[in-house]
Amino acid sequence: MKATVRAHPNIALVKYWGKRDDALILPHQSSLSLTLSPIHVTTTVEFGAAADHVELHGHVAKGSERDRVLRLLDAVRVQAGRDLGPAKVVSRGDFPMAAGLASSAAGFAALAVAGRQAAGLPADTRASSILARRGSGSACRSVQGGFCEWLRGEREDGEDSYAVQRFDAGHWPELRMVVAIVDRGEKEVKSRDGMKSAVETSPYYPAWVKDAEAEVPRARDLIAKKDLEGLGELCERNAWRMHSTSLAADPPLCYLSPATLGLIQHLREQRKKGVPVWFTLDAGPNPVLLTDAAHEVAAEALARACGAVDVVRCVPGGDAVLLSEHLF
Ligand code: DP6
Repeated sequence: MKATVRAHPNIALVKYWGKRDDALILPHQSSLSLTLSPIHVTTTVEFGAAADHVELHGHVAKGSERDRVLRLLDAVRVQAGRDLGPAKVVSRGDFPMAAGLASSAAGFAALAVAGRQAAGLPADTRASSILARRGSGSACRSVQGGFCEWLRGEREDGEDSYAVQRFDAGHWPELRMVVAIVDRGEKEVKSRDGMKSAVETSPYYPAWVKDAEAEVPRARDLIAKKDLEGLGELCERNAWRMHSTSLAADPPLCYLSPATLGLIQHLREQRKKGVPVWFTLDAGPNPVLLTDAAHEVAAEALARACGAVDVVRCVPGGDAVLLSEHLF
């Protein structure tokens, strides 16, 4: 009745931005990401505890944070079809100070896989991805390693909306993602609220959906060919389009800070000098640089020269895995 899983975060190369169903977390469009190592989250789940207890990164979770975890475990209980008793959950991330990447994707992926295992359900990547999605959309892409595509699906019950691995972590081992922390502040508008406002108020939203859906197969082809320049250009254009959609929302939503723009400008100049480095940007000010192993040191130097207070160098990461050592 106890299981422990370690999962990595992922960075979207073609972003997910907007839900067609808020409760089930169903997206308007497909997305594509790369799972990132070495940063990870480890989660232990035990059913049959004395009372429900959720501990995240060293503190006892309360309110909506706790509810999201317990709701996911309720879905596990339904799948198990029996009374599993109260649950104890302990989760810890090794994310360096404000890694600039949310730990929720890795956290919910680890929780979904560990929850099913602790309930005695068989290992099932698709079922785990659907379960993780119900915790946080992007989490469905962290159940597996390498390059994963979240298929938007058509069904109202969401059973065809899950992530599939297109290429494993060994496909492109020279690829690097360098997280540049230019701003440690908490973001003012969470992804969940930001994307909701884009769906409801941005006149550009329908164009975003159409464009992002069309970019996914293009990104897949560029990854198959290991075309760094092509993928870099695609990532930048997709990030700009996601942010433009939100800049056009009412009220407008801008996640970029002056430091973000400074780094992006510098990156363009470096590219003209032959340094192969591109960026992507989630719902926050910290760019993630896309480059290769031969230029990761240059990418880190570039980020620091532009005021990055912390830099995390990542390589393609693997699947969520079961561990034999538990957190409690
Ligand atoms: C910009 O998956 O955190 O990082 O489904 O509401 O929990 P919820 O949102 P979340 O949003 C991620 C948004 C993004 C793009 C992406 O990862 O695809």
